[in-house]
Amino acid sequence: MSDRYYEEVGTYYDKDAVDFEKRYWKNDSLQRIRQSFREHVRQYEFKRVLEIGFGPGFDLVHFAQTHPQAEVYGLDISPEMVRLAQEKIDAGKMSNAKVACGSVEDIEDQFPEVKYDMIYVFFGALNTVSDLDAAMKELERILLPGGHMVLTFVNKWYIGGMLIELLKGKPKWAFARLRKVWGGYSPTNFLASRCYTSAQIKATVDIQCVDQRGYSILFPAWYYHKIHRMLPNKVRMFLWRLDARIARTTLGTFGEYMLYDFRK
Ligand SMILES: C[S@@+](CC[C@H](N)C(=O)[O-])C[C@H]1O[C@@H](n2cnc3c(N)ncnc32)[C@H](O)[C@@H]1O
Repeated sequence: MSDRYYEEVGTYYDKDAVDFEKRYWKNDSLQRIRQSFREHVRQYEFKRVLEIGFGPGFDLVHFAQTHPQAEVYGLDISPEMVRLAQEKIDAGKMSNAKVACGSVEDIEDQFPEVKYDMIYVFFGALNTVSDLDAAMKELERILLPGGHMVLTFVNKWYIGGMLIELLKGKPKWAFARLRKVWGGYSPTNFLASRCYTSAQIKATVDIQCVDQRGYSILFPAWYYHKIHRMLPNKVRMFLWRLDARIARTTLGTFGEYMLYDFRK
């Protein structure tokens, strides 16, 4: 691993791994967003796929099962997350899945000379790389011509969240993502992370961004549990559908989360 920063990130997620899956299965918003991420990946054919930051392995295992002919590789910085994913791979006897511990900087050491026609990152691992520019260039290098990278990021300009935090009288939280270092989602457990604008992300690579969309523009972010409970389900679904309609417009760039699809 490259430096002390990654030790901190790994330790944070080792602790987070304890009840990560339990929390996830209670959160219908996260489940919706993941389905949408997966739909985006599965519109393309792929034979060799790499996931960075697979967590307990939800998507890595999913794609290893839905694409038994494909080779599925994964890297995660947290040894505990690697253990959880490996457990699932072993239990499912998935010979097409291979996971290792590390960050983007370790790809060549862990999987030497492998090139991919699909690379994806779901829920945040690229917000915790020490050098986004270098990480993106490395991903671009190992992507095969014609391949896609579907990369998702915690977004810098989440306007809805800023307004909610201001109404709650928490200006520090409202503008937290605009600082050079954002402390992550937890108010009690600091994780040094960085949030980027669309322009910053696109400037890191030479390949074209063929699609981008925002999530939780009007639909409340996944962590606004009280707001989700307060809203009637019809209203929540209305906001979710409305978001889908505006996700690819300029308004989409003000969502809580962003997906970028780069093609080489
Ligand atoms: C918020 S979790 C998301 C996990 C999984 N992708 C999911 O959708 O459930 C972020 C994951 O990325 C991993 N991660 C964070 N920074 C990373 C990095 N620089 N390189 C590799 N993995 C990283 C963490 O260990 C954690 O498992």
